Amino acid sequence: MRTHFCGLLNLEHEHLNVSIVGWVNRHRQLGQLLFIDLRDYTGIIQLVIESETAAWLQTAQKLRPESVIQVKGNIRARMGSVNKKLKTGEIEVVVTQLTLLSLSQPLPFQLEGPIETSEEIRLKYRYLELRKPIVQNILRYRSKVTSHIRHFLENQQCIEIETPILTKATPEGARDYLVPSRIHPQHFFALPQSPQLFKQLFMIAGFDRYYQIARCFRDEDLRADRQPEFTQVDVEMSFVTEEEILNCVEDLLKSIFLQLHDTTLTAFPRMTYQQAMNDYGTDKPDLRIPSVLVDISPYVRSLDFSIFSDPANDPSGRVVALKVKEGAALTRKKIDQYGKWMEQIGSKGLAWLKINHLDDDLSGVQSSLLKFIPLDVMRKILAAVEVEVGDLIFFGAGPSALVNRTMGALRLRLGEDLSQYTQKWAPVWIVNFPMFEQCPETHQWLALHHPFTAPLVNDCDALLQSPGTVLSQAYDIVLNGFEIGGGSLRIHDVAIQQSVFTLLGIDEKTQREKFGFLLDALSFGAPPHGGFALGLDRLVMLLSGAESIRDVIAFPKTLSAACSMMQAPSPVTDEQLKTLHLQS
Ligand code: AMO
Repeated sequence: MRTHFCGLLNLEHEHLNVSIVGWVNRHRQLGQLLFIDLRDYTGIIQLVIESETAAWLQTAQKLRPESVIQVKGNIRARMGSVNKKLKTGEIEVVVTQLTLLSLSQPLPFQLEGPIETSEEIRLKYRYLELRKPIVQNILRYRSKVTSHIRHFLENQQCIEIETPILTKATPEGARDYLVPSRIHPQHFFALPQSPQLFKQLFMIAGFDRYYQIARCFRDEDLRADRQPEFTQVDVEMSFVTEEEILNCVEDLLKSIFLQLHDTTLTAFPRMTYQQAMNDYGTDKPDLRIPSVLVDISPYVRSLDFSIFSDPANDPSGRVVALKVKEGAALTRKKIDQYGKWMEQIGSKGLAWLKINHLDDDLSGVQSSLLKFIPLDVMRKILAAVEVEVGDLIFFGAGPSALVNRTMGALRLRLGEDLSQYTQKWAPVWIVNFPMFEQCPETHQWLALHHPFTAPLVNDCDALLQSPGTVLSQAYDIVLNGFEIGGGSLRIHDVAIQQSVFTLLGIDEKTQREKFGFLLDALSFGAPPHGGFALGLDRLVMLLSGAESIRDVIAFPKTLSAACSMMQAPSPVTDEQLKTLHLQS
């Protein structure tokens, strides 16, 4: 049907007869002339219809935007009306024949410029939104990233193997999507939260190195960087050290950024989980912002000021200071706005202090805290925070989890509001995660990563005796405050795996029921192995500058985890429920 693509035509094609196809981007009549901007995925070209008599002129006049047409015509240089904004702006096609292939109905929203409608409607007609070049470019870019990753991993001797979608629960910390079985009444498949156990079985089977661009399913609350259905670059390798895996991930990211983003990533610093929590209040620190939370608990323990001294003396509490360089210029109104915002996100309040000038008697310190904090203690705090004239300090006190969450969020917000970013890209490895964390309510031990992660000590007794102090051989890669991947060395010793299950409260009978296949496999000669998974959607979101992973997924779910286009999930008939044994 076509001899050329719209966006690839240029002056070199002058006088050529062409046949092109595409969508009517817009059309306008100027006296006897009808102009149409014709669009295909390569770009836009201007068509001009000059003939008044041609039978198809009437068709052309009735065209609506987004109709699909085929035109034949001759390429002509635009005389005096070159459109510099258009790649093809030096030429136009003088139409000799026009065929309407599909007339478009009026659209539910305008495609030109930002789409002014709700997310619900936008996603209901997502195929229309996907026509927008800016949206389409992201998916084309994603395809390049995926293709680059495939080449890279294949050069590392990884082979791509698919794993089942109808499977059994793989614990990754979220709820499962379940699929009822018709043939086995009251039995359910689970959609994979990740291919974790299958990739370990590939190592036991001797494949040595595996990868998969794998779809994963997790029924969890959605955020800008979370979808119920998302894609991982999933990798597993045998006979490797943690160092080799980290190097592989670094090399992969470096080559993606260099080849597809023209950016050289250099340093991949490593930070322990403990340090990340202490200094940033999160295990996903955004290191583009230089400020840190400074723990001032030791200085305020013996104060007669319970708001600070109580959490400072509580092992599960903390008091932190966050310095805002040159923040003294912030108005009282602005500071109060931050205080209100902190309350909205759960904080009890936000104390602050301004350094108007720095004298020995601290007369230049402006703060309501001066009533409660003696000068000698205040001096120690100011020294710990390394203040300078013109700085502002915010304080947070309370249960550690709350202080970390709220003060960590304040750090990010200030970073953005005050443009504190000192670099564009800040990758960081978070290492030395604890193996377990204890549920504050039930005191049950929970795996911080998944339960197949190897502990740093390979000793069942040590593990069982003090689970709270055992570190794991797990690592997360964080980029600009987003966890873009994670992995670990795995347990390849059946006794250690059983001890971990026991610690997690899974008794022997349940271990057999749920993970018998893994325990069996580990007992038939399992190589030391480890791997990682990158969140492809998050990575592409960051690379393409998109605001949400929804923008880099062709058909994403809405924030309420539904597909407004297909109307899924949807009710099913009583008959279907009966067939699936879900209704009698
Ligand atoms: P993890 O659970 O950390 O590890 O997942 C790996 C990466 O997948 C991305 N990710 C998500 N992206 C979008 N939406 C979600 N709901 C979502 N959940 C996770 C993140 C995350 O870092 N099996 C292990 C990997 C391993 O140990 O090899 C796993 O799944 O970027």
